Amino acid sequence: MIAPSILSADFARLAEAITAVRGESGRGADWVHVDVMDAHFVPNLTLGLPVVTSLLAATDLPVDCHLMIEKPDHWAIGYAEAGSYNVTVHVEATEDPVMLAKNLRAAGSKAGLAIKPNTPLEPYLDVLKHYDTLLVMSVEPGFGGQSFIAEVLGKVRQARRLVDTGHLNLLVEIDGGINADTIEQAAEAGVDCFVAGSAVYAASDPAQAVDRLRRQVESLAERPA
Ligand code: DX5
Ligand code: ZN
Repeated sequence: MIAPSILSADFARLAEAITAVRGESGRGADWVHVDVMDAHFVPNLTLGLPVVTSLLAATDLPVDCHLMIEKPDHWAIGYAEAGSYNVTVHVEATEDPVMLAKNLRAAGSKAGLAIKPNTPLEPYLDVLKHYDTLLVMSVEPGFGGQSFIAEVLGKVRQARRLVDTGHLNLLVEIDGGINADTIEQAAEAGVDCFVAGSAVYAASDPAQAVDRLRRQVESLAERPA
């Protein structure tokens, strides 16, 4: 699956930016990734619940909210109640990730846990049993257009093994620096859902860029081992 991040879109035209990845001929985006930043957890400020609520009304694509905010235990639930498909919080910010996952699910969304590039996976393996998605950050959260940190692929492989052996039941998502040059290594490591911001919105046809990225992953799967 491909989830374009509207962080790299024109913020005065967000609804159009979502329409632009729908894909009239191809499949287009599977989810729309929305980056919520509070200028505290990360040094950047983007948008919050009022804008997400408007975006939810403007599209029927599943909205994947990535909350880069402090106190997600308090704030995340509103994004689930508003109708987001998946709400991802940062493990570095949450006080009680198990309770938060339960609350998100009770409010009607899937629960996602994000880990920064230098955050290890091991301490959270039990916590992850309560989550539907694991977002492995492949750049430091805060800005689009940064370079892919390949070292995080070890965590992707580890999560993939745990899912494939039935120890975890979640989708592995990757976020940061995903483009034509990096998506194949991420796919080989076992990613299910690829977030791509600048690689999609810098293209003259964003929907085509989404389909091209997906085809790269698909042709890898078709290649003989
Ligand atoms: C960064 C955000 C990403 C960002 C990715 O903190 O979480 O979702 O939009 O942008 P690219 O794909 O340009 O690295
Ligand atoms: Zn993101």
